[in-house]
Amino acid sequence: MYVSQQPILHVEARVKNNSDGIIVRTDLVRDEVTQWLIDNFVVLSLGQTISSFGGLSEPHAQVLDSILVAECSGGNLDSGAYRLQQVQLDVQAYQLRTQSDQQSPPNTQIFDESGNGDDVPRARTLALPNKDLDGLWESLEFDQPIQSTILSAISRMVSFSARRLDKWTINWNRLILIWGPPGTGKTSFCRGLAQKLSIRLGKHYPQSKLIEINAHSLGSKFFGESGKLVNRVLESIELLLEAEEDTFVCMFMDEIETLAARRDRALSSNEPFDAIRAVDALLTGLDKLKEHPNVIVVCTSNLVTALDQAFLDRVDIKQYIPQLSSRPIYKIYKECLEELGRHGIIEGTSFDVVQVAPTDPQTALQYVEQPAEQLILPTFDDMLLHYKMFPDAIPKLLADAVLESIGLSGRTVRRLPALSLVLYSNRARCDIRTAIQALRMGIASECQAMAEATMADEHSGTAAPNGQ
Ligand SMILES: Nc1ncnc2c1ncn2[C@@H]1O[C@H](COP(=O)(O)OP(=O)(O)OP(=O)(O)O)[C@@H](O)[C@H]1O
Ligand SMILES: [Mg+2]
Repeated sequence: MYVSQQPILHVEARVKNNSDGIIVRTDLVRDEVTQWLIDNFVVLSLGQTISSFGGLSEPHAQVLDSILVAECSGGNLDSGAYRLQQVQLDVQAYQLRTQSDQQSPPNTQIFDESGNGDDVPRARTLALPNKDLDGLWESLEFDQPIQSTILSAISRMVSFSARRLDKWTINWNRLILIWGPPGTGKTSFCRGLAQKLSIRLGKHYPQSKLIEINAHSLGSKFFGESGKLVNRVLESIELLLEAEEDTFVCMFMDEIETLAARRDRALSSNEPFDAIRAVDALLTGLDKLKEHPNVIVVCTSNLVTALDQAFLDRVDIKQYIPQLSSRPIYKIYKECLEELGRHGIIEGTSFDVVQVAPTDPQTALQYVEQPAEQLILPTFDDMLLHYKMFPDAIPKLLADAVLESIGLSGRTVRRLPALSLVLYSNRARCDIRTAIQALRMGIASECQAMAEATMADEHSGTAAPNGQ
């Protein structure tokens, strides 16, 4: 819910990556694309991709790769189409960075040192927006508009902070915690969020970086070392923030319970004082980072009850990510099956519901399934509207498979369509009916494994209380 004003339509203009190293003035591209959209379009729809740019001035039309209507904040979320007269256009132009664009910033050697005597570095730096993260945000499915809400709130938070609000009066930490059950997309959400923020904030910050801290590598096997390591890593980030005031930094700590475990419980651990010092160092470090307007800290956790109270108290936005419901599960299955179709593993098929006698609207409806070039399954709404009454129709069978999948993690749902074909079919190419049968066998097997694991937990008395 927003305090209503004119909605903002966010449009992302992707500039091609040129191998000759010529730097493109993305600010000029942005202004020109804004004017071009206003002159050439009356309505834009969410998800719309524009890839031909007739009328755009030559140098810019040549460097542009695509224009995506990414999102609308403050708009009517039910409607995907927006009249340009009724929205404020926010166009961002960006170039995707690749690994080779990266240079280790000074004062960050600690990131590359391995932790715990193994080869795992303590942190990884990624220049944003990065090719490796392209498409990740769009691949995530949630019931609620969690993505647009958080993206909009945090980009506003960063632009407020850029105005250097008085730190004694406005006391926030720009610390975000994404929590929820395993495999619901928390880690992907945070990486995708960093990518999208770097695009959205491009106007204020020409450079952006994701610094991903490996929390496990900071738990040192040498007594008393963890606190020092946390300290050193956070100090390096602070130096980087000071040296690069024009760079937006998203610091990401996955599975933060490793570093911010409750200090009262740590007293009963093997090395109580080391664990307590690590949390102390983290809290002190976070308090220093917040002085810099160009950083946000994003964390994930499965177990909020395991987190230290003082850490939780510093979190500004806590977002719970629940298990998936029918609509996103259906969408993921549809995407996966269609991808298998595009690669020739499942035969192309089309689906329709038509009048038995097309010229007579009084006749009954019938379900039609036909071989086609591509496999294109109906959307969830189409399935509900047209196919639900045909018990043997493929879309209805897929919807049954979806109902059987409630309670499975997003991770499991994403892998089951392909995995089930590998496990329960031996054909190189199969029809969609066989693929859905295999999928349902895969779902049954996952549900059984989950039930057995729960029973085993109950016997050993380790079952986690509901709601964590
Ligand atoms: N909501 C979702 N929508 C689409 N795909 C999802 C979703 N949740 C999970 N996935 C799939 O599962 C994979 C793993 O997700 P991710 O690692 O982000 O989950 P997580 O919540 O961090 O899990 P864990 O709690 O085990 O760390 C993703 O790469 C994606 O393929
Ligand atoms: Mg994770």
